Amino acid sequence: MQIFTTVDELRTWSRAQRCNELGHGVALVPTMGALHAGHASLIRAAAEARPGCVAVTIFVNPTQFGPGEDYARYPRTFKADCALAEREGATVIFSPSVEEMYPAGASTFIEVEGLSERLDGLSRPGHFRGVATVVAKLMIAAEADLAFFGQKDAAQVAVLRRMVADLRLGTKIVVCPIVREPDGLALSSRNVYLSSQERKQALVLNRAIHRMEEMVAAGERLGSTLIDAARGVFAEEPDVRVDYIELVDWETLWPVLTAAPGTLFAVAAWVGSTRLIDNTVIS
Ligand code: PAJ
Repeated sequence: MQIFTTVDELRTWSRAQRCNELGHGVALVPTMGALHAGHASLIRAAAEARPGCVAVTIFVNPTQFGPGEDYARYPRTFKADCALAEREGATVIFSPSVEEMYPAGASTFIEVEGLSERLDGLSRPGHFRGVATVVAKLMIAAEADLAFFGQKDAAQVAVLRRMVADLRLGTKIVVCPIVREPDGLALSSRNVYLSSQERKQALVLNRAIHRMEEMVAAGERLGSTLIDAARGVFAEEPDVRVDYIELVDWETLWPVLTAAPGTLFAVAAWVGSTRLIDNTVIS
């Protein structure tokens, strides 16, 4: 497995892959590192789709963190990340510096209007501008055919799908299911911030999702009833502060009144000083 730090190295490698006997482009797996089994599932899926042509990017992207957020203390575990990525089938790691991704004087940003102000974008102003900008840069640098993302960050997926369609980027987005701990907690690089008590409290997110899934399975469709039920579950953990509980169309992120196949039910909450998210898509 090779490790690249410059866009030129990544692009040269990617173009060479295109000249191979299949003529495929590469599969891209963008991450901020601190890799866990959720990231591993994306790398495995990419390696299955494009064996020998998988670029895993590890870049803690400063522009998607707001003032006072955890950019400085975000976990950085590069050596272990490389080992995991290689084990799961990565061909190259792209780990650029901030200056490589944002050259001096950089003043071009991508704003996916409307979508970027919903769900996580509402409580994290500027977050999706940073995400869209860095993912576009990575897709362009890698000239990627495929890019793999987790459903865990469902609003991010909606923003990036819109961006790829609007900019005609030609990279197909593949969405992989949420990987969870055995007790239901969605894996996240931020789970390491949780104290043992907070780790228990954090299960309330998955319990709320689960309650809602049970109600839908029992025939309930009314959004307000489903959201009230989830709110009731959160009330069992008074120390956990709800950010949002929303039933939305997964494409537009607009609230819907009734649940239908493809509707996204998403929650975000603060457990201590850690903000966690979880969701389910109605089947
Ligand atoms: P990061 O949080 O490192 O996540 C990288 C990818 O892993 C995302 O697509 C995310 O949805 C996926 N992922 C995280 N936890 C997961 C889980 N439990 N199950 C399945 N997939 C999971 O998301 C980002 O980085 C950044 O915003 C990025 C897209 C890299 C842009 O900087």
